[in-house]
Amino acid sequence: MKIAVIGQGYVGLTISVFAAEHFKVTGFDKSLDVVGRLNKGISHIEGVDSALLAKLIKDGTYSATTKGIDIAGVDIVVIAVPTPLTPERKPDLSFLDSACRTIGENVTKPTLIINESTSFPGTLRNFIKPQIEKYSSTLVDHAYAISPERVDPGRIDFNQKNTPRLYAGLTKQASEQTRDFYSKFCDNLIEVSSPEVAEAAKLFENTFRQVNIALVNEFAQIAHALGISVYETLDAANTKPYGFMKFTPSAGVGGHCIPVDPTYLATVAEEHGAPATFIRRANEVNLEMSKYVVDRVSADHGGNLQGKSVLVVGVSYKPDVADVRETAAELVIQHLRDAGALVNWHDDVVSEWRGEKSSSLSGADIALVVTKHSHFDVKKK
Ligand SMILES: NC(=O)c1ccc[n+]([C@@H]2O[C@H](COP(=O)([O-])OP(=O)(O)OC[C@H]3O[C@@H](n4cnc5c(N)ncnc54)[C@H](O)[C@@H]3O)[C@@H](O)[C@H]2O)c1
Repeated sequence: MKIAVIGQGYVGLTISVFAAEHFKVTGFDKSLDVVGRLNKGISHIEGVDSALLAKLIKDGTYSATTKGIDIAGVDIVVIAVPTPLTPERKPDLSFLDSACRTIGENVTKPTLIINESTSFPGTLRNFIKPQIEKYSSTLVDHAYAISPERVDPGRIDFNQKNTPRLYAGLTKQASEQTRDFYSKFCDNLIEVSSPEVAEAAKLFENTFRQVNIALVNEFAQIAHALGISVYETLDAANTKPYGFMKFTPSAGVGGHCIPVDPTYLATVAEEHGAPATFIRRANEVNLEMSKYVVDRVSADHGGNLQGKSVLVVGVSYKPDVADVRETAAELVIQHLRDAGALVNWHDDVVSEWRGEKSSSLSGADIALVVTKHSHFDVKKK
């Protein structure tokens, strides 16, 4: 069986290397740079080992391409392209549309199309299928399914094999083919009654995190105002063996998922006349957190950051990954600069960001740790 995976980023490359242990995989990506490095056996994703990639290339079970024609004749296509927000913070399906075009123009025999990109309920049925049909020169009877990705970059205890995977096809046959495909490298497959349930479940999982992170961020402000330790209070609450799940305060949420997916859910909810009050407010609380952090730093330094040098330590959106998409560090730096501080940043995992290189750790009036990578010893430094 031949598989094509559209998009070779965090999700697409991860699924490609697992699938390549069992199938012949073509990784399709628009980026010449990404494809060039992958074909040299160089992985750009934490959790995908370059040595494994090089072995799969040598064995002939993986290759990357930018040419649409190279995916003609495959048996299964997996879509794993970005689903970000537009500048107006609305769902941006333009990457999905472009993936549909690549499939429509090149995949001419009946094929199983599985979407792993995150989007709102109805995307498979009302967007992906019609768009692929629109771009196909003849009507091809593809099978369509969804299996939302749950990969957590940087995490080693849960991976493709042991993370339960939801799936649903538009037809019974599509569901069965999807189960057969993933069962080669995933231990726990859960079929749901419709693609819309799978799409909604993925959005709700990340919305649950967004709302709970906002709640703990608000609680951090309450605890500070009351003069009690937020961390000690959370540890105390966490001794309850049921009905409580611990989240920890931060300067905000980042990455491709938590700041983005809840807005997909809120948008579709509001389009259907349903309230999305918690979701919208949670997003605001998390976005406001960077300003609160800077205000606290300022208060700790005489209420004035004008002319002070501040080193922001850790700029990726979470520990131990190099991903800076939607990172809270960006807003923190902006608020520090607005307050007149002279800001540099240090992050040896990210090393280069916004055209700047990571600064050395010495020489600032104030160091502000936004993201603490596990190897970073705050006391020692
Ligand atoms: N990163 C995560 O932790 C994660 C987890 C679960 C789900 N998701 C979802 O998976 C999807 C992909 O996210 P990601 O993190 O892998 O993105 P990514 O940015 O890491 O990778 C996307 C890749 O797709 C390529 N691309 C863009 N448009 C393309 C096109 N039309 N054709 C071919 N390639 C194209 C880009 O060049 C890039 O290499 C998104 O919907 C995201 O919400 C991400």
